[in-house]
Amino acid sequence: MRKIRIDANTYVYPNPVTLVGTKVEGRANFMAVGWVSRVNRKPPLIGIGVNRVHYTAKGIQETKTFSINFPSADMAESVDYCGMVSGKKVDKSNIFETFYGSLKTAPMITESALCMECKLFDTVELPANHFFIGEIVTCYTEEKYLTDGNLDIKKMNPLLLTMPDKSYWTVGEYAGKAWSIGKKLQR
Ligand SMILES: Cc1cc2nc3c(=O)[nH]c(=O)nc-3n(C[C@H](O)[C@H](O)[C@H](O)COP(=O)(O)O)c2cc1C
Repeated sequence: MRKIRIDANTYVYPNPVTLVGTKVEGRANFMAVGWVSRVNRKPPLIGIGVNRVHYTAKGIQETKTFSINFPSADMAESVDYCGMVSGKKVDKSNIFETFYGSLKTAPMITESALCMECKLFDTVELPANHFFIGEIVTCYTEEKYLTDGNLDIKKMNPLLLTMPDKSYWTVGEYAGKAWSIGKKLQR
């Protein structure tokens, strides 16, 4: 086996694609975000990397709240649009049907399989991005995305992203039970 070197600027494979919702200057705005990860269990914290130039950054800083919406793959065109145009220039408030939860300033997307409303917990300043860490206050889904009370990835059909080929994907095949299949290697 011979390893070859590739660009150090290589991404996580794959990234889920989310839509981050904010209220900016009184209007709902949605931005595509691939840099998203859970970063703590208790309290439930989630982090997003948002470039300082984006309108979304202004909304998060103003309201100290935001939402993270997991669109299904059939929403790919609208997601892509939200990732190409800025709320500074275009009104993105009417692309989706929206609703609000307890935070009142974190617009969420009705047609998303999973919506998380978050309050800003901390911000880490990176060279180009804010890394906003949100505490998840409430999650919303629908019965049709659940199996035995748990979110079902096949029913959600989330949108995935690979870079630098800038490609969208859907999830593949089931590969085994986590925290379980490794047990057979335990002595
Ligand atoms: C698939 C996709 C993923 C993206 N992920 C991110 C990201 O994680 N962080 C970021 O700062 N910009 C990301 N962008 C770019 C922003 O979504 C884009 O610049 C958007 O227009 C910003 O909107 P706003 O100015 O209304 O906030 C992504 C774009 C696409 C198409």
